[in-house]
Amino acid sequence: MAEDVAIDPWSTDGETDYSRIVNKFGLETVDHSTLPNPGMLHRRGIIFAHRDLDVATRCIRDKSPLGVLTGLMPSGRMHLGHSMVIEQVKWFQEHGADVTVAVADLEALATRGTSISQGRKIALDEYVLNYAALGLDPSETNVYFQSSRPEVQRLGFTLGRRTNLSEFESIYGFSGDTNLAHVQAPLVQVGDIVHPQLDEFGGLRPIVVPVGIDQDPHLRLTRDIVGKSNWFNIKEKKSGGLTISLSIQPENSSIFGIGNGGRVDRATRDDLFSNIIDSISSLGFADFSTNPKHGTIDIPGATRSDKYPIRMNLLGIERNLGGLGLMPPCSTYHRFAPGMTGGKMSSSKPETTIFMNDTIEEMSKKVNRSISGGRSTVEEHRRLGGDCSKDISFQYLQYFFEPEDSAIREIRRDYESGRLLAGEIKKICIEKATIWLKEISDNRDFWRGRTEDFIAQDSI
Ligand code: TRP
Repeated sequence: MAEDVAIDPWSTDGETDYSRIVNKFGLETVDHSTLPNPGMLHRRGIIFAHRDLDVATRCIRDKSPLGVLTGLMPSGRMHLGHSMVIEQVKWFQEHGADVTVAVADLEALATRGTSISQGRKIALDEYVLNYAALGLDPSETNVYFQSSRPEVQRLGFTLGRRTNLSEFESIYGFSGDTNLAHVQAPLVQVGDIVHPQLDEFGGLRPIVVPVGIDQDPHLRLTRDIVGKSNWFNIKEKKSGGLTISLSIQPENSSIFGIGNGGRVDRATRDDLFSNIIDSISSLGFADFSTNPKHGTIDIPGATRSDKYPIRMNLLGIERNLGGLGLMPPCSTYHRFAPGMTGGKMSSSKPETTIFMNDTIEEMSKKVNRSISGGRSTVEEHRRLGGDCSKDISFQYLQYFFEPEDSAIREIRRDYESGRLLAGEIKKICIEKATIWLKEISDNRDFWRGRTEDFIAQDSI
């Protein structure tokens, strides 16, 4: 969760109207019933929105390759808020996805002045150790540092050609006095998000990026840039069927048969089209209507659900012809758990959150002091019941500490009916948080000194 306003102007600052956010950013809402074994955060509606999650779940269903990517800012201490993304990463990993973790050491250097060596130490001692403790599988996890992966930086530069300052102005609210570090960092992040699709890092496959809503601007930027880089577009026709069209760019114009003066070279164009038709025919389509001059191929028999396999084939062709052949990333968005004292959680305000390595005493003290949904007197509480939507103990049981849905339902029922008092729900929260923190602390002891298994070869 970035505290950097210049980069994340739409961090939701107290914004809890999630349906407004969904509309404003053009997200899809999550239908949990379509997920195989939805995890706790899914079942409880904490993952509230997505982009192209169906592409990722299709890979899970078909057991075809799927990557998941997350990034961490190596600053401050890891706390509860950070653990939500890891829970999601774990869920995808348990369903067959490979995992890539970007340590944003260049971003921390550029935007916060954290040195590379300092960033490395914080990433390893604080974040990677806790990721291991939360249960990520080292044999399927690759942690790398932005500063050690030239391919990521090169992609950031290459793809920078597909955007401009106006887009940064509209996505991030930049203006003339914006520090250029804040222009560079999102481009490196685009490189992070896209690079697992490169042949050296697993090849063409969907990549899903679970994030908090504050990171959505980066996903919109990435999806937009990727779309502009694609050599082939696919559109649904109003009359039914799909149309493939060529996107002519300087790097593909001669391959696409554009000669001097913009004239179309028929022989080159015909070769390209038969190449495309051969590839799409292998998916079972037989009927095509082509317009080589305009650079379009209609597939009348194809429907919306054929878009994905057709796109994969076209991206394969683009790669064979020398293009990048990139897919737009999929993403999921989680709600932010409220801070313990009323505002947002923040690493720089320890009283607002529980750190992964807080002691039981520290945690208990914070829970006891946290915002309660109880009434001012016992009589009133018994009569009116507690307010779960305000009660931090209830919220944290639901977000983090109580894995059993039936237990959550019971606690809610008892609290709202007034049977359970504010002090009692705090006690339950402390008990469950104690179990949670102890397990993570034991796991940290196990993994300390052994996290090298998680680190990618280029970053050891
Ligand atoms: N910008 C992210 C943050 O502030 C860190 C990050 C870098 C990231 N690269 C990423 C997050 C890629 C998700 C995906 O926390």
